[in-house]
Amino acid sequence: MSVSHKRILIGITGGIAAYKIPELVRQLKKAQAIVRIVMTPNACHFISPLTLQALSGQPVHLELMDHCAEAAMGHIELARWAECILVAPASANFISKMASGQADNLLLTLCLATTAPIYLAPAMNQVMWLNTLTQTNIAKLKQHNVSVWGPDSGEQACGDTGLGRLLEPNQLFDHLTQSFLPKGLTNQNILITAGPTQEAIDPVRYITNYSSGKMGFALAEAAAALGAHVTLITGPVNIKLQKNDNIERIDVITAQQMHDAVLKQCLHTPYHLFIGSAAVSDYRPTYTHQQKLKKQIDGVDDLESLALTKNPDIIQAVSDLIHNRPYTVGFAAETQEVILYAQQKMIQKKLDMIIANSVVTQHCGFNTDTNAVDVLFKDKVQKFPVMSKKILAQKLIQFIAQQMSES
Ligand code: PMT
Repeated sequence: MSVSHKRILIGITGGIAAYKIPELVRQLKKAQAIVRIVMTPNACHFISPLTLQALSGQPVHLELMDHCAEAAMGHIELARWAECILVAPASANFISKMASGQADNLLLTLCLATTAPIYLAPAMNQVMWLNTLTQTNIAKLKQHNVSVWGPDSGEQACGDTGLGRLLEPNQLFDHLTQSFLPKGLTNQNILITAGPTQEAIDPVRYITNYSSGKMGFALAEAAAALGAHVTLITGPVNIKLQKNDNIERIDVITAQQMHDAVLKQCLHTPYHLFIGSAAVSDYRPTYTHQQKLKKQIDGVDDLESLALTKNPDIIQAVSDLIHNRPYTVGFAAETQEVILYAQQKMIQKKLDMIIANSVVTQHCGFNTDTNAVDVLFKDKVQKFPVMSKKILAQKLIQFIAQQMSES
């Protein structure tokens, strides 16, 4: 999904950071977006409407009471035309007026008159940004579903250093691109397992594997970005989640704890989708010794063999649920016959889909930042070549959402 053929209205208010907008418009036009520009009177002190007219290929809208402009495309028509409005830079003055519902210029009027999503990219002196009046206005706008992108921290035109810099054109471009991603998972509940489990032998030793949790965490973040409410149940990992109100993280250590946490969640919440990306230990030591085992006791080796007990199969328990069974997606970490073994696991565990992951291919599998997988569903196989785990997660979540909607 891209901005191609999307109708994007960019509002520019008075601030030195307005100099970044021509580059954003250039990038959007290159990506075949249809861009219209509205400037406040103060914006025209910082940048020429002519520049933006040349780059956008459209007349720039300046005045609310301009008879010629109104005759060509009235302000209400413009408010309806936009698929989204990005105000960049958004000054403290504009933010304040918008938060109080004022409409004394064309851009403010459009923001009141539109039903399209509105995004603000603030830019101002860092003290103005941190002022509680500005923060109160921002909080109020967020309550009214206005999204705020940035500001960034760094050196400012006024010589200060701190929060208040307008995001760079490529960052604004990325935000706009993401805003057009299908929100196919809005309000869907998704349960994801990630990371390894640890099965204690004694207080100093345990059985585990090389999973880092990167794949599972990336899936959780990608699902949340598409509007889902995500519960992430993870074994012990050393990574952090990006701050996100849509992800609840539950930490566990053993396979039994992960199993109990997953089933407790399923009993309390109807989940639409379960993704088992955790590398769960199939076995645990039958006895967990309370004291550290000695290499030898009375001259006899004590640790030559270890009695093991099978752990419960978590994903099997989920796919066996009778009430509120979620669409169930497993992973298969394999070192040989990857597709064949994944297929067998999908059938045996009665999964809707399985993601076959060769963990011996270069740059793939455990504890890498990249991965490649084959997704098996119904009788089909969809290949995803090597890419970053974050991008792969986005593609997988979109793919799963599409298959769920068709199933
Ligand atoms: O965490 P990373 O370092 O980013 O690495 C990612 C990954 C390689 C761990 C991940 O992509 C992956 O392949 N996860 C599945 C690992 C695994 O345990 O595969 P499996 O073939 O052993 O298990 C098959 C499925 O059953 C999996 O969905 C697994 O979560 C589930 N399972 C297995 C055993 C068990 N007792 N309960 C389960 O739910």
